[in-house]
Amino acid sequence: MGKDVIVACDFASAGAYTTFLDRFAGETRRPFVKIGMELFYAAGPDIIRITKERGHKIFLDLKLHDIPNTVEKSMAVLSRLGVDMCNLHAAGAIPMMEGALRGLSSGGGPRPILLAVTQLTSTSQEVMERDLHIHEPIEEVVCSYAKNAQTAGLDGVVCSPLEAGMVKARCGSGFLTVTPGVRFADGDKGDQSRVTTPERAKEIGSDYIVVGRPITAAEDPVAAYKRCVAEFCD
Ligand code: C5P
Repeated sequence: MGKDVIVACDFASAGAYTTFLDRFAGETRRPFVKIGMELFYAAGPDIIRITKERGHKIFLDLKLHDIPNTVEKSMAVLSRLGVDMCNLHAAGAIPMMEGALRGLSSGGGPRPILLAVTQLTSTSQEVMERDLHIHEPIEEVVCSYAKNAQTAGLDGVVCSPLEAGMVKARCGSGFLTVTPGVRFADGDKGDQSRVTTPERAKEIGSDYIVVGRPITAAEDPVAAYKRCVAEFCD
């Protein structure tokens, strides 16, 4: 599977989103886009059809987490949208992840890649111990959750690029790592604390990087996207 840059399209409305996509209309390489809760809840499932019609691949980032039966049925609904990638929380445990996979496989078309979020990168060791009552080192929790996802049959995890190497060591090189928290060496970090550059993410072994504001808030988003592709994919 080739490495790719996924653009996190965290826009509040369909209008702002399609204005952004319009910039890529004349390009031969249409970015793989990530649609998260904000845009999906604001614009509804039709946003997926609009995006597909424009020739973009889609990572639908809704991070499901519920009882196995509910997640299985919800994934069956999502499977009919025709997205390329979607995800859930590994904290839902193996039966929930197995149910998700069954639901996602029921759509008739090719099954989307299914990823697990291990621990959110916003969760620190301190918060994990204090609020979640988990007392293992966070790296161990991330790798154990990744192993659970692999046992359930999932394709990979969303994790920090700084954790991608450890996940590959535990789960094998074919287990996908999709990593947000990417910034250009000369760029603004914003609210992300543990960041790395596209080049470094490639060295560590990420399969896909998820890049939002360094592209969406750039003066020239197409140039910023191309720079990401050059640093990460080429
Ligand atoms: O703008 P920025 O590059 O920080 O966007 C990163 C994207 O990746 C956002 O959509 C954010 O919600 C998502 N993400 C993240 N860290 C995680 C999981 C998802 O930054 N652990």
